[in-house]
Amino acid sequence: MSTPLLEVKDLCKRYPIYGPLGKLFPPKTHMNAVSGLSLQLYEGETYGLVGESGCGKTTTGRCILGLTHPDGGEIQYQGHDLTKLSDREFRPLRRDIQLVFQDPLSSLNPRQRIGSLLEEPLIIQGMEDADARRARVLAILEKVGLSEEHYFRYPHELSGGQVQRLGIARALIIEPKLIVCDEPVSALDVSIQAQILNMLTALQREMGLTLLFISHDMGVVRYLSDRIGVMYLGALVEEAPTDDLFADPRHPYTQALFSSIPDLSKRGKTHVSLGGELPVRTDEFQGCVFHTRCPYATDRCRREAPALREVEPGHKVACHQT
Ligand SMILES: Nc1ncnc2c1ncn2[C@@H]1O[C@H](COP(=O)(O)OP(=O)(O)O)[C@@H](O)[C@H]1O
Ligand code: SF4
Ligand SMILES: [Mg+2]
Repeated sequence: MSTPLLEVKDLCKRYPIYGPLGKLFPPKTHMNAVSGLSLQLYEGETYGLVGESGCGKTTTGRCILGLTHPDGGEIQYQGHDLTKLSDREFRPLRRDIQLVFQDPLSSLNPRQRIGSLLEEPLIIQGMEDADARRARVLAILEKVGLSEEHYFRYPHELSGGQVQRLGIARALIIEPKLIVCDEPVSALDVSIQAQILNMLTALQREMGLTLLFISHDMGVVRYLSDRIGVMYLGALVEEAPTDDLFADPRHPYTQALFSSIPDLSKRGKTHVSLGGELPVRTDEFQGCVFHTRCPYATDRCRREAPALREVEPGHKVACHQT
């Protein structure tokens, strides 16, 4: 493959866990939200990052966007390690990497009309000509399936699906290269989800965008991803082109996720169910991230973390028994 557009190397983010006396004393240990995660995003592809709630997907996305500062690792983009840049150095690159998230309303000023909300990023980018800004706003409204009629409306006057269209328009108006979509359809009805996903796919092709699509829903991720990374307890446990992953899921956790999808579990794949509690990955945690729930765990799994290694071209798995 060619050089990645963006490369995450050995990303780590941890949060302190304090003892009963709180912050009076140093933290007892840390919760490792993301630990040793590496992935590459190639130009024009959609990479689906999937895993249960709390596995570190949002933290990974926020680190890429520069909204959360990681404790370790690199994020390489156009010859820069984004984690080492100051705010001032990051600013010109920020327009290239935009975010679409689950609840766009929470970040929009409710007293600002839609036209002005969409013009704002253009003003911040220094586009001075008001007529040109208005033309760009009208063009993006049309692209996301809204119309001129919405220009003077307020965000709360839109339906859930239309608000997400607005969120996507706001991310796309400054023509970024990479979009991080964090659970963009999780709050929507299934029929509206399909419309938004179709629109995202069409826009991605038309604008040559690279998409990091984050979701807990394997069905949604399958629908639009070229490659999928399966995440568990802050680490990637499997990564493959979408068709390969669905034809031959190798990691017991991926198999467990598939067992919960009715039309896949019927195909006679190994049935692994997710028993037990999701553990906390403290600094003391050892071994394979999945060992506390894995039906195949051995003593080695409890002691030694398996590396993510390539088992077929483009298909990587982190399991001692694969
Ligand atoms: N600011 C924070 N402070 C403490 N813990 C956090 C913070 N942000 C995230 N976490 C924890 O990190 C873990 C990963 O969270 P997140 O990245 O939001 O997961 P996901 O998006 O996969 O649901 C969770 O256990 C969450 O509680
Ligand atoms: S390394 Fe061991 S515990 Fe981890 S997934 Fe493989 S068999 Fe299960
Ligand atoms: Mg999340």
